[in-house]
Amino acid sequence: MKESYIERFFELTYLIEDYYSGGVRKQHSCIDVNAVVGEIGVEEMKRKNETGIEITDRNETEGKRDKGELIRRREQLEKIAREVNACRKCELAKTRIKPVPGEGVLDPLVMIIGEGPGGDEDRTGRPFVGRAGKYLDKWLNAIGLSREKNCFIGNIVKCRPPNNRDPKPEESNACLPYLLKQIEILQPKAILTVGRISSQILLGRTSGIGSLRGKVYYYMDIPLVPTYHPSGVLRNPSLRPYVWEDLKLLKSVIEK
Ligand code: URA
Ligand code: SF4
Repeated sequence: MKESYIERFFELTYLIEDYYSGGVRKQHSCIDVNAVVGEIGVEEMKRKNETGIEITDRNETEGKRDKGELIRRREQLEKIAREVNACRKCELAKTRIKPVPGEGVLDPLVMIIGEGPGGDEDRTGRPFVGRAGKYLDKWLNAIGLSREKNCFIGNIVKCRPPNNRDPKPEESNACLPYLLKQIEILQPKAILTVGRISSQILLGRTSGIGSLRGKVYYYMDIPLVPTYHPSGVLRNPSLRPYVWEDLKLLKSVIEK
């Protein structure tokens, strides 16, 4: 009886320490991670997981990727998330509620890159959780992708621009190194940029999204497919067939 109280005390201490030190549950010698996760509930854990890095990942279960590599990735991503959470490198730090470092698996097939957090993301600290995010999830599901299984979702700027205005060049320049490091660590098989801003910035081009989309580009040797932003498509449903074409193109790239 007494022992279980002591164990419970340590479990709780570890739990609190883990979430505050980087948002991801770590393995501690005296407790079973799955038991704790099961106990607080997966949804609850995801809500508390501020870095958004999932406990399981695509290849961990398939046994394809070396475990040490995944542990290294997790540590590096946690470090970036801690830096982002403390960052005040641009003006957006003054008006944000929560920074949004990004979330997904450690071994993503696809990294999805948006522009910046909106109101729902700012309140929760998680990317693409509002109406546009739910729509984006449908796009991904249609080609066998999801943030839980095989994607990582991030943004050009990690803090919300007031009234959802476009990020200013000095803001995206200040924030971009975080995203570039995330890409370098995660080495996705492909990148999907959604909307004009992230497509232009990663491609270093100034054309509109209507003329950029429909083709495969490369960012640091990683195939990149640009498409419309889900908010734009919600406003203008006649863009839907173009997005579907782009999603099919993305699927063909990751199946190669
Ligand atoms: N729009 C974006 O570009 N990113 C988000 O995270 C949410 C909405
Ligand atoms: Fe820092 Fe990026 Fe947030 Fe600006 S938007 S404060 S650079 S994390």
